[in-house]
Amino acid sequence: MDKLLVKGGRRLDGTVQISGAKNAALPILAGCLLVDGTVRVSNVPTALRDVATTNQLLAHMGAGVTVGNDGTVVVDAASVSECVAPYELVKTMRASILVLGPLLARFGSADVSLPGGCAIGERPVDLHVSGMRQFGADVRIENGFIKARVNGRLKGARIVLETVTVTGTENLMMAACLADGTTVIENAAREPEVTDLACFLNALGARIVGAGTDTLLIEGVARLHGGSYAVVPDRIEAGTYLVAGAITQGRVRVNGVVPGHLDAILAKLRDAGALISVGEDWVECDMRGSRPKAVDIRTAPYPAFPTDMQAQFAALNTVADGVSTIVETIFENRFMHMDEMRRLGAEIRIEGNTAIIRGVTGLTAAPVMATDLRASASLVLAALVADGWTRIERIYHIDRGYERIESKLQGLGAEIRRES
Ligand code: UD1
Repeated sequence: MDKLLVKGGRRLDGTVQISGAKNAALPILAGCLLVDGTVRVSNVPTALRDVATTNQLLAHMGAGVTVGNDGTVVVDAASVSECVAPYELVKTMRASILVLGPLLARFGSADVSLPGGCAIGERPVDLHVSGMRQFGADVRIENGFIKARVNGRLKGARIVLETVTVTGTENLMMAACLADGTTVIENAAREPEVTDLACFLNALGARIVGAGTDTLLIEGVARLHGGSYAVVPDRIEAGTYLVAGAITQGRVRVNGVVPGHLDAILAKLRDAGALISVGEDWVECDMRGSRPKAVDIRTAPYPAFPTDMQAQFAALNTVADGVSTIVETIFENRFMHMDEMRRLGAEIRIEGNTAIIRGVTGLTAAPVMATDLRASASLVLAALVADGWTRIERIYHIDRGYERIESKLQGLGAEIRRES
C-alpha cells in the first residue's frame, strides 16, 4: 500500500493550480444517467479514485464512458441496461447513493447497495429514501439494497428536509427534473457543488430555480438533452493548500478558484494572521514568516465553515499561538485525526464534539495513519511542520480526493515523496 513520506520544516512558497471539485464532479457524472444523449463534462478531476469509481459504476450499468487525458469525461447513458449499484463499488464510495434519483426518475427502477459503516460516523441515507417515497416511489430495504420502483413517472412533491443534506438535496433535485409536475425542496443544501449540479442540469434542459438558496423549485420536464459542462473548482482542495501556506509560515497562491466560495475559510485565515489577497480567479495566503494565531472553528452547512476543512484547521491550530476550540456539528466521530496528531506531539483534549487544542511551538515526526479523506490531508499538513520524516500510511484515502498531492506540494517547495 502506498505511503507518503514528508520532511517538515520547509516554508512553502509558490502557486498551485486547483482541480475541478470532486463533490461537484460526482453528482454531475451521476446526473448523466438522466440524459437522453451524450454529455461532455470537463474540468473533471479524473485522477481521483472516487471519480474512477463513479465512472466504473456508470460503465457497470451499461453507459458509455470515455475518459480523456485532459480532464474530460464523455458519458452516453443511452444504453443503460442494469439499474444496479453493487456493494463492491458502493462500499468504497458512499457518494454512489447519487445514482438512486437519476435511475429511478429515468428508468423507474434502482437497486443501490446500502453503503454500510463509515469512518466518520453514521451518515444515514433516510432522507434520500423518504424523499423518493414522497415522489410516489415504492422503496424497500432488502438484502442490503435500497430497492426503489415506480410505475410510470415520479410525481413532483413538496419536500421539507429535516436536516441539511448535500447529497440528499442533489439526489432529490435530480429525481425531480424528470418528475411529473412541480417539486419544491425546502431546507435544501446551499453548497456551491449543489448549485453547480443545478447549473449543469439546467444546461441540459432542466428547469431548476433557487439554487444557492434553501428553497429549490423544480419543474419536471419530459427529457434532458446532451450537452457540455465544466465542473466548478474545488474549494476544499484550494483551502487545504492555503492552510499549507499558513502552517509553514509561507506564501501560497491558488489559481483557478472561485474566491467567493472560500469566504468562510479566508475569514479564519485572516484571523490566524495571514495576509489574504484576492483576484478574479485566485487567492493568495501569506503568513510573512510569522506563527499563526489560534482560531476557533465551528462547522456548519454552507455558507458557514465547512466540515471538510475542520481537520486542516485542527492541524493549523496544533502549532498556533494560543488555545482554540473546534466544534464539529455535522458529523459525529470526525476527530480521528486528533489521535494521530497527538502522536506528532500535538496537545489536544476532546470533550464530546469539541476539541480543545493548545498550540505547541513544534511537532516531531512519527508514523501516522490516514483514517478518512480530510483527516489524511490534515496529517500531511501537520507533517509539513513536524521535525523529521513523517510516514503517513493508508493514503488511498488522500487519493480519493486530492489529485497528485505530492507533486502539487513539491511545486510549492515541500519535501514529500510517495512510496509503494
Ligand atoms: C457531503 C460531501 C462531504 C461533506 C458533507 C457535509 C459529497 C460527495 N460529500 O456528504 O464531503 O463532508 O456533504 O458538507 O458531496 N443525514 C441524515 N440523513 C440523510 C442524509 C444525511 O441524517 O439521509 C445527516 C448526516 O448524518 C450528517 C448531515 O446530515 O449528519 C449532513 O450530511 P450530508 O450533507 O448528507 O453529507 P453527504 O452528502 O454524505
